[in-house]
This record gives sequence, structure tokens and C-alpha cells, in this order.
Amino acid sequence: MPSRDAGESTRPGLACRTEASIVESLPTGFVWGVSTSSFQIEGAAHEGGRGASVWDTYCEEGRVANRETAEVACDHYHRYLEDVGLIRQLGVQAYRFSIAWPRIVPLGRGAPNEAGLDFYDRLIDAILAADIEPWLCLYHWDLPQALDDLGGWTNRDCAGWFADYAALVAARYGSRVKRFATFNEPSIFTLFGLGFGGKRATADSVTLHAAIHHINLAHGAAVRALRAHVTGASIGAIHNYQPCLPLSPADLDATAVCDAYWNRAYPDPQCLGCYPEGMRTAIEPHLQAQDLSNIAAPLDWFGINHYSPVFVKTDPTAMLGFTSGQAPPGVPLTPNGWPIMPACFRDALERAANRYRLPIYVMENGFGGFDELDENAQVTDVKRIDYLRAYIAAMNAAAHAAADVRGYFVWSLLDNFEWDAGYGVRFGLAYVDYPTQRRIPKASFHWYRNLINLARKRSA
Ligand code: FCB
Repeated sequence: MPSRDAGESTRPGLACRTEASIVESLPTGFVWGVSTSSFQIEGAAHEGGRGASVWDTYCEEGRVANRETAEVACDHYHRYLEDVGLIRQLGVQAYRFSIAWPRIVPLGRGAPNEAGLDFYDRLIDAILAADIEPWLCLYHWDLPQALDDLGGWTNRDCAGWFADYAALVAARYGSRVKRFATFNEPSIFTLFGLGFGGKRATADSVTLHAAIHHINLAHGAAVRALRAHVTGASIGAIHNYQPCLPLSPADLDATAVCDAYWNRAYPDPQCLGCYPEGMRTAIEPHLQAQDLSNIAAPLDWFGINHYSPVFVKTDPTAMLGFTSGQAPPGVPLTPNGWPIMPACFRDALERAANRYRLPIYVMENGFGGFDELDENAQVTDVKRIDYLRAYIAAMNAAAHAAADVRGYFVWSLLDNFEWDAGYGVRFGLAYVDYPTQRRIPKASFHWYRNLINLARKRSA
């Protein structure tokens, strides 16, 4: 087994730093977890009565690298028991997954699909039987296509449809699931879907701001639906939270705009009850009485996804006047080109903790590579281990500086369908050999398992 001892670091320059030192400031009861999402792993796109999602459409339209699709993905729909076994082997306490809205309500509203509901019954039962806590995310980008045909998030009614879907999920699973997230990275799917030219040819500033506001309304309505149906629910939302860094002094104004849209368009109204100043005028036409207080339904925690900072460039031709640029020379990059800057992770955690005053759970952090099996059919992903170690150390430093960080989830359990990039980029702790669907734990899988063991022993 190509596992490295979690007790010692082999990272150059950190020879004397033990793994124990990177978890020493984390609080007792710290939750170690791993994350996935429905569209990226489930496959079975046409089985069990599942409806189509917008991502099925993007795939069909050939918008994904190599014209790949998620029709099979990791075939998790059929292999979920094996995957839960893998999660158990990893030794995490928590597993974050998402429900595919079109699997349980094929048209997004109206009649639910019993076969789809059954699938998540079986999955949740298996997770609980493995003594793992399920963390259920309602929305990881797979909007039912039938709702997109009605305008999707640009239609205010979508907030109500989402609340009905949340109520269905809560009523069905709420006696077994207590941890709920409403949305995953709303700013990423709105900015990339509508803000930067987008998947919708008709996208303009008005539709972007309508969508932002309706998603915030949907979040607030879902929080109320979850609270109404689930005794003891612990609810949050999951935001990408990334320091925005100007590429030059001339990009300072654009950087402030980027920060408002990228980092605060959702957390500010959800947690503070107001939109960032620079976007209030554009939101105003969509705002009705009580909207802001409905959006700011109290939350139990703040979910952060973080991989790297955003380098910002002024771009007068862009809808919002900014674009994201390449990192300056000298910044180390992951193989898929994302800057490796763990200090920015620490900043993001401290900033979110100070601004929103909620317990923080890191719901995604991970390393995108082009892993390959070696001659022994193993993956020795040393660079991923180095990345995870450096980022966990940064989180530990934030906790030491009093940020209330309560949990950390690696993205991802498995290599999977990485959106526009298809299957080329791999984030998994377990390698997926797509032709055979074999799962092969990588060196990082063993490293993470050992780290969790060590951290749990320390805090026992
Ligand atoms: C995040 C997404 C997740 C995955 C990682 C690499 O933005 O939430 O689905 O694609 O990036």
C-alpha cells in the first residue's frame, strides 16, 4: 500500500512539522468528512423515472470537454453500497452528498417520483448503518430542465417550487437526516451561468440580478420549510469564499466589485439581512416587502468551499466590469491550474468567522490533478497530500486565531464528472477506473484516514 505515515511530514521545508501539529488547535468534536454531489457521481440519467436537469442539456449541447456526459459518471446509483463502504473505510464521521431534484421531482414541481425517493432512502439508511452522519445538500446545480424552460431562477416562482421540494425532502428524510444545506456555491452557478456571458444566450444584468435575488428567496423559504418539518435540524448554506486579489493597482475597483458578487451576494443577505452596497440598485427592481427578512432566516452554520483565491482584472467589456485572470508568475499551481495559496484559506476562514459570526464548516477543499495508475495499479498522489496538509495547517492556524471552525470535508470521495472539464480532471481520494468502474484508494485516501485517526485520538 503506497500509504505514508501520517505522523511525519515529508514536505520539503516542513521536515519537523508533524501531522499532529496541523490539527492541534481544532476543537473537540471537530467533524471530519468527505463530499460528493449527485450529478457528478450518480449516472443512471435515464433510470428510475429521473427527469432531465440543465446539466444534461449542457452535456447534450456539447459544452463539456470531449463532449463528455454524466449519463454513467461513477455509476454511484448502482454502486452506492460499495461507495458507502469506501467512506466507512476512510474513517470520516460525516458524508456530504446532494439530492438530484429531478430524480425525486422529475419536472421540478408536481408529482414526486417514488423510485427516486426510494433511492435516497436506501442511500441514507446505508450511510447511517455505517455509523456516518449524512449531510444533505438540496441543490448542487442540477436544476430540473422543465423549470429552466419556465425561466429557472430568473422566474420568482422558482423560489416557491424550491421550497416545496425542500419540504418534500424534509418530510421524507427528516427523521434520519438532521444536517441540511440549501445551496452549493450559488455565486458560482449564477456568475458562470448568467454573469459572464453564460449558458443562456439572453443573459443580461437584469436577469442576473433577478436570479441572485430569487435564489436568496429560495434559500430563505427552504430554511423555513426544513425547520417546519425537521425536529432538531441544523441548517446552513455552502458558499465559495475566496479572497479576491487585484492583478495590478489599476484593478482595485474591479476587485471590490468582484468581492461583492463572488463572495457576498448570498452570504450578506442570508446572514446580515442586506445586499452588498454596490449591488443594491440593481437588486432594487426585484425586491418586494419582507423579502430581506424572509431571506435572513436564522442559520446554524456557515459552509465554506475553498480551493484558491481569485485574481481579478478590470474588463470594461464584461457585464460586471471584471474578469478573473491568471495568477502572477511564481504562484504554484495545481495541475488543473488553480493557485496553491493556503494563507488565503486562512484569511477566508477568519474573514467569514468575523463577518458572519456563525460556526464554520469547510464543505469542500481539494486538489485537481491528472492522476494515473502506476505499474502496480496504484496512485501515489504526493502533491495532493502536500496540498491537503498545507490547507489543513492553514485551517488549524485560523482556529488558533479564534475562528470557530468545526469541520472539514475533502472534495471528493471519488474522481468524478468535473463539470465543463469532464472526466479529465480528478479530485478523488479514490481513483475511478471509468471503463471498469473500479475504485482504487489513492495514497491521499490512506493519508487522510491516518490523519483523522490521529486527530480523533488527540481529542478523545
Ligand atoms: C466546486 C464544486 C464541486 C467541484 C469542485 C472542484 O466549485 O462545488 O462540485 O466541482 O469545485
